[in-house]
Amino acid sequence: MKQTFDDRNRDLIVNVAGRLTPRAEARVSPFDSVVQGGDAVWEGLRLYDGRIFKLKEHLDRMHRSARALAFEQIPDHETITDQIRKTLVANNMRDEVHIRLTLTRGEKITSGMDPRLNQSGPTLIVLAEYKPPVYDKSGLTLITSSIRRFPPDCLDPKIHHANLIQSILAKIEANAAGADDALMLDVRGFVAETNATHVFVVRDEKVLTGDTRACPEGITRQTVVDLCSDHGISHEIRDLSTTDIYAADEMFCTGTMGELAAVTRVDGRTIGNGKVGPMTQRLSELFKKLVGESGYRIVE
Ligand SMILES: Cc1ncc(COP(=O)(O)O)c(C=O)c1O
Repeated sequence: MKQTFDDRNRDLIVNVAGRLTPRAEARVSPFDSVVQGGDAVWEGLRLYDGRIFKLKEHLDRMHRSARALAFEQIPDHETITDQIRKTLVANNMRDEVHIRLTLTRGEKITSGMDPRLNQSGPTLIVLAEYKPPVYDKSGLTLITSSIRRFPPDCLDPKIHHANLIQSILAKIEANAAGADDALMLDVRGFVAETNATHVFVVRDEKVLTGDTRACPEGITRQTVVDLCSDHGISHEIRDLSTTDIYAADEMFCTGTMGELAAVTRVDGRTIGNGKVGPMTQRLSELFKKLVGESGYRIVE
């Protein structure tokens, strides 16, 4: 799965610290914390027919992450929502849009990692692009990465930070193996997630997923767990090993970027019968219905 250039994004207007500029002219300072140390938090949001799905949940997660990193002057939800609206209106966007929201610790008075060098408040970047769900929903191929996800005593995965090197290294392994993405284990050898999504398996019509000790608290993941509860679908949150993956009837991954997408091969093994399974289909339909009837109305 390699994304390609979407011509609708040629003349995008990007919002950096409240300034709306064409993509070719959009700039952050070399003194900005995101350049200096990847010192930023981020969210990926999706716009469906003028509504952002789970906006509050995304902004809450961003706020918690920024607080955990001790950012000063974190913009409130209303301010961020206004900047998102401004960006969408400037681009005349209302559907098939992915919004990458980045909040950095801001500009430093001189280079260096010390947060005391930040004396002018954080930088908010709103990048809205036309980007339909990125995964091939007919079935993804994964390989298991050699790189482990951190436990909270190394770097708490609940902080949704912009330092994505661990994921990028895993993605390089997947690319080298000709796979779509990489399955990542925690330091105990249990499944954490992929380099970009959460993972579910289905066995005997029961939906199973791991906990969030070694991965972010996924908003799509939680939505799927809630859909299972609401629709009487048997499910359980528990440790999964690669044996649970190889022996699963179905597997799928979740994330804002790609919604729900079936996984049909892992480490050269066919999962289930190698096709999109009935539970994956059912949950995908329930998810589609939910995004079609909920979300925060941000543009008409
Ligand atoms: C490492 C990682 N895993 C999984 C996800 C999917 O989470 P969500 O469903 O909240 O988009 C993300 C999304 O940002 C992520 O960064």
